[in-house]
Amino acid sequence: MSSIPLLQVALDYISLPAALAMALQVASEVDIIEIGTPLCKAAGMEAVRAMREVCPDKLILADVKSPDVGGLEAQMAFDAGADMMTVIGGAALPTVQAALDVARQMGKEMLMELTGVRDIIARAQEWRQIGVERMVYHRGWDEQAANREWEENDLLIIRQLIDMGFKVTVTGGITVERLPFFQGLPVSVIIAGRAIHQAEDPEASAREIRSTIARLWGAPNATMSWSSGGAVSSFADTTAKAIRWGVSEMGLLLTVDGRDCPGCDSPARFCQTTQTDIYTPKGVSAADVVQGIARIFGQSEAFGQVASNVFFLDPARLSGLSPRRVIDLLVATGNTLRQLGCQVDVNAGVGVANLILGSS
Ligand code: 5RP
Repeated sequence: MSSIPLLQVALDYISLPAALAMALQVASEVDIIEIGTPLCKAAGMEAVRAMREVCPDKLILADVKSPDVGGLEAQMAFDAGADMMTVIGGAALPTVQAALDVARQMGKEMLMELTGVRDIIARAQEWRQIGVERMVYHRGWDEQAANREWEENDLLIIRQLIDMGFKVTVTGGITVERLPFFQGLPVSVIIAGRAIHQAEDPEASAREIRSTIARLWGAPNATMSWSSGGAVSSFADTTAKAIRWGVSEMGLLLTVDGRDCPGCDSPARFCQTTQTDIYTPKGVSAADVVQGIARIFGQSEAFGQVASNVFFLDPARLSGLSPRRVIDLLVATGNTLRQLGCQVDVNAGVGVANLILGSS
């Protein structure tokens, strides 16, 4: 199944208060907030900590582009509250390995940043062997200023990386006009920085970029379909389906054995209600999960404990049911489990849920 790339806003600021203000302005329109490299240098991991405080239910990436001491820098970023961090492509293999090890131990993600790497495919083969899964294909600011344009060759390399099994993020001067160039490429994440934070209306710009991504990657009128409404029951069913598929994609087990399930759209589906019961990963109590979700998402009847190792999510019980609230519930669930030391792929879950919500 193809999915709609997530939208990441890059906050390449040197002032933390300004970055926080911008994050608050656009958070509802993006999936991931990036603490840009200049901000990591200007404010250190305090920037990550502060961003986590003001955006508790967002995925946060610390773009440290670590060149050395990868394990420690990964640990610093994750301890401060980041879900993802980057290592620069020119780093030695032991640096990559060290950051990757820490990410794995903490249930987080490490991405290779390809700025300045010339022999991308050869390096990618080495990275693949040690288990790297994600990379950021980047046309850097300085390259762009020196008139380096996006070219067909970039598409070929990105396609090759995806074929090798990498989840690829693309970035570098991406605007709404530039998006069709990448259409058809199953990239995981698209980053926009200046196109959002330097726009006259950053929130509107993020919204436009996100709905254009949804349209180009397969969900016509994604945002429109929600605002135009529809039968309440089918709306709730779709959100339940998004939750079911989203948590499954994260790697969690539903209590219903779905192997022979005819599917959420079938009249003979197994789950007759909008509630999804989910096993906690081994060694994690449902009470801790429920408490964690409440801390991030706020109290709601949309989640709760079923048994000592089972919790439920029921988007139909959300006050103000909307696609955004459903995604926020999913992210809060994934982040809670990560904080409890579980390896869950929050990005993958959000990607598939967005696809379902967008194409309804
Ligand atoms: C610079 C970066 C930027 O975050 C990235 O280029 C995205 O920003 P923009 O969309 O403004 O180009 O990593 O090194």
